[in-house]
Amino acid sequence: MSSTASQPTGARQVPVARDTPLTPDSWKTATVYQIYPRSFLDSNGDGIGDLTGMTSKVPYLAELGIDAVWLSPFYPSALADGGYDVDDYRNVAPNIGTMDEFDALVAALHSAGIGVIVDIVPNHSGSGHAWFVEALAAEPGSPARDRYVFRDGRGDAGELPPNDWPGHFGPSCWTRVPDGQWYMHLFAPEQPDFNWDNAEVREDFKTTLRFWADHGVDGFRVDAAHAVAKDLNAPPPPLFSLHMHELPEDGSHPVLDRDSVHEIYREWQKVFAEYDPPLVAVAEAVAPISRRGAYVESLGQVFSFELIEATWDPAWFRRSIEATMALSERSGGVPTWALTNHDCLRAASKYGLPQGADVNAWLMSGGIEPREDRVRGAARARAATLLMLSLPGTAYIYQGEELGLFEVADLPTDQLQDPLWKRSGHVIKGRDGCRVPLPWTSNGPTFGFTTGTPHLPMPEWFTTVSEEHEEADPASTLALHRSALAMRRDLQSGISIELAPDAADTVVHVVRDNGWHSVTNFGDETVELPRGELLLTSGPLAGGKLPPDTTAWVKAT
Ligand code: GLC
Ligand code: CA
Repeated sequence: MSSTASQPTGARQVPVARDTPLTPDSWKTATVYQIYPRSFLDSNGDGIGDLTGMTSKVPYLAELGIDAVWLSPFYPSALADGGYDVDDYRNVAPNIGTMDEFDALVAALHSAGIGVIVDIVPNHSGSGHAWFVEALAAEPGSPARDRYVFRDGRGDAGELPPNDWPGHFGPSCWTRVPDGQWYMHLFAPEQPDFNWDNAEVREDFKTTLRFWADHGVDGFRVDAAHAVAKDLNAPPPPLFSLHMHELPEDGSHPVLDRDSVHEIYREWQKVFAEYDPPLVAVAEAVAPISRRGAYVESLGQVFSFELIEATWDPAWFRRSIEATMALSERSGGVPTWALTNHDCLRAASKYGLPQGADVNAWLMSGGIEPREDRVRGAARARAATLLMLSLPGTAYIYQGEELGLFEVADLPTDQLQDPLWKRSGHVIKGRDGCRVPLPWTSNGPTFGFTTGTPHLPMPEWFTTVSEEHEEADPASTLALHRSALAMRRDLQSGISIELAPDAADTVVHVVRDNGWHSVTNFGDETVELPRGELLLTSGPLAGGKLPPDTTAWVKAT
């Protein structure tokens, strides 16, 4: 189903040769930069970032030293959930660009040596998708309804939802349609869940994978990969939760992380292998870490959320690193790392808030209570970045982190876009504070992002974290990223690490098998560095020693 002319859909017998810098092998050590398209750069003054804006910044991305970009959804969408409600999987949203502009972006990235991964959203479409529109118009029990999860309700007149399961964005995952049936949506009501037992759904997604591969993409970030296979007849769990830390470890959840989800992705692997080099994929699988290795086997990579969750606590960082390394050893894949993404707080704010702070309460106060320590937060984000980039495997950096942006905590509530705000009854402020457009120049009010009105307001303090401002400062967070990414490329070898059992438990000391040391000081006192050549530090040393909130890279000589 698509408004775009279909590509040939059948399986290719002879692999289609692709000319690309991103291969399954190079991806194992890649640094991937996540672009949130609507907030990257607007080229035509409508306040929405677009493909032409991205293409104009390919030199910036190349200079940053990344190996691939991951594009969050840019498809036609009613934007009920930032584009994760896709109305047409094989097209570009008109206000983001055209397919020709997409092709031009891929060509520009590839010729700069940068691979391209796009987000694919298989759990649900947008409610404006032609199939859902058709399903609503069709009879209960019809083939059109079978592509989604429609059920009759409980109660004498079916007035109660089929069960009392919650959704991620609200108290129920069911919404009733005028003829009395209910449809399932694990996220917003505008995100109806597909029925993956339906053969047409399975085939259509394979067509979509081929469509983007034929337009040059190198792979996919698979959204909510754990949620796709469902068995609504499975015995109801004692606790129906959607939270990662509350999911069963035996795959018995009726709708999340079921073993059968991997059958779907094994089929996708066959599509990936129709190309030479094959396509790659990374799963966003909100599953217990003990079960996440299965996604490595079926898709190639799985995100690790462990570092994202960690606050500025050395024990937490150490635990996260060890757990992620163990996951990669178990699964035979490479470890993946991220400090943030478009769903969570900016790193510089995460580490600048007091330990244990209630983040939502802070956002609800407009960033006033408790007080954010921006100096320490920024220093720690730089230190955490160097620590993360010293680790083996694939690292993911969310746009704006290279500038050290803080969370925009004081967005006016009447401008919020995240469905969490409305669906929570205005008690959860949501994720918009990390989705504010990027500041490119130092002069306001729109910092070079747009000549019009940005789709989310940009704060005055962006003037001190703009690209232009940081270009002029050799000690900027941007400059640090450039140096670190260049060195990371050169230093990569082997995937084993040791966490040195330092005397101080306030230090996290990574030792790579090639003699590359990364030492991060989480404590209040300066510490000694290992002997060797000092490669890079996230902040100035103090008399040759490593001060608090700082990381140093040392090459043992
Ligand atoms: C993923 C995305 C998130 C989105 C959700 C529903 O978790 O990262 O932004 O809201 O899926 O598609
Ligand atoms: Ca635009």
